[in-house]
Amino acid sequence: MKLIIATIKPFKLEEVRIALTESGVTGMMVTEIKGYGTQSGHTEIYRGAEYAVNFVPKIRLDIVVSDAEADGVVSTIENTAKTGKIGDGKIFVLDVDQAVRVRTGETGDDAV
Ligand SMILES: Nc1ncnc2c1ncn2[C@@H]1O[C@H](COP(=O)(O)OP(=O)(O)OP(=O)(O)O)[C@@H](O)[C@H]1O
Ligand SMILES: [Mg+2]
Repeated sequence: MKLIIATIKPFKLEEVRIALTESGVTGMMVTEIKGYGTQSGHTEIYRGAEYAVNFVPKIRLDIVVSDAEADGVVSTIENTAKTGKIGDGKIFVLDVDQAVRVRTGETGDDAV
């Protein structure tokens, strides 16, 4: 299994959620976060400007899927969240050792 952590622009959440659901994703965690990337939260940096970091609101998605589904989920997020402007977000993919559905005791791929 893989854990896909994605940050997206908040206004893209519903479009990304619908696209993921249509592609077979059945569950996800959604968190309102603040963060910054390469631009430190600034849309433009001027020469000589005093260094300061601005945190920008983003949505963080945590999605656990089988190995076979992971590439498709990444592509769906990438294609749906993209505006082409700075701050479109990042996608990280991590290995997951185990998953358990508490109600049934199912484990591994059967639990996600
Ligand atoms: N290296 C990183 N590690 C963890 N989180 C990150 C990292 N870079 C960006 N993020 C998260 O992703 C969000 C969006 O980052 P952002 O899209 O601005 O990345 P970027 O590399 O600056 O790309 P762009 O140049 O398109 O803006 C940030 O607000 C932060 O929450
Ligand atoms: Mg950025």
